[in-house]
Amino acid sequence: MDKLDEILSKYKDTKGALIPILQEVQEGFGYLPKDVMVRIAKDLKIPVSRVYGVATFYAQFYLAPYGKYTIRVCRGTACHIQGAKKVLSAIKNITGLEEGETSQDLRFTLETVSCLGACALAPIMMINKDYFGKMTPQKAATILRRYREE
Ligand code: FES
Repeated sequence: MDKLDEILSKYKDTKGALIPILQEVQEGFGYLPKDVMVRIAKDLKIPVSRVYGVATFYAQFYLAPYGKYTIRVCRGTACHIQGAKKVLSAIKNITGLEEGETSQDLRFTLETVSCLGACALAPIMMINKDYFGKMTPQKAATILRRYREE
């Protein structure tokens, strides 16, 4: 809890500190553990429900551990027509993950999204902030191998 104490003391007596605290905690822990949210609420003298409410409202916060690499596969219409289903299926086979799951070694989290805003490159997947367009199951396998070996 040293890291948490450090973050909390940094924002001591700062108004509107909840979101920056949650961001720093997530950066340090990789997600927002339940006991940490309770401790934040206690320290800020606010109800735990408020901390939980903010943590669940914003998509940037995770309540469960996330992988180092988040794989996002687009299931939008353009990607679907261009074969996103086969790409997703290959990724599932390679990683052993279903949508919304994180690998036990915390390397990968798999998500699907409705559009990544790059339909001209369909089918597309993202790993963290990197886009990979015109995907095929073979290309996905090659890319994932690179991230697995890093
Ligand atoms: S539908 Fe896939 S990027 Fe838009």
